[in-house]
Amino acid sequence: MATISTTSGYATDDTVAINRYLESIEVFFSNWPIPAAMEASKLRKTPSLDELEKKNLLEGFEEIFLRLQKEMGMKSRDLIVLHPGTPGLSEMLDRFSPCHTHDDEEVRYIIDGEGEFGFVLPTGEQALLKIGPGDFIRIPKNTEHWFVLTEKRCIKAIRYFSDTAGWVPKYTSTKVKIS
Ligand SMILES: [Fe+2]
Repeated sequence: MATISTTSGYATDDTVAINRYLESIEVFFSNWPIPAAMEASKLRKTPSLDELEKKNLLEGFEEIFLRLQKEMGMKSRDLIVLHPGTPGLSEMLDRFSPCHTHDDEEVRYIIDGEGEFGFVLPTGEQALLKIGPGDFIRIPKNTEHWFVLTEKRCIKAIRYFSDTAGWVPKYTSTKVKIS
């Protein structure tokens, strides 16, 4: 279950309330339950996957991609699989843990594991959103945010792209104040 907590002391696990809070920075958040056929998928629960296994697992979520193609103009998707044994995991995470923006939106659907997105609001307040299986998030371009894994250091997320060219971090000087 997703939760949000902020530097001003607000905290909730209510999806509607989380969405209302994130609307102020135009971040869209929702929970779309894992499709029944994928709920018991062995691949979904296997920490490390080869390219063919990733492709097979992605196919189980094709219906969501088709919907996003139609409704949000998504053009491609891939599957990111991180676990404690991922080579270069710490270096990879170091790229996304400082505050940053992108020239393109960041769109994710979590299919296993968990992670935390942080956001910087125009007021300076910061919010930390913990997400897990079934959670969908769409962060608009130029929104100041960061991403960390939880202590489990395990996540499988489908990344959807409308334009891959813009998806590199541009660091800001804001210091993260919440964890
Ligand atoms: Fe990002």
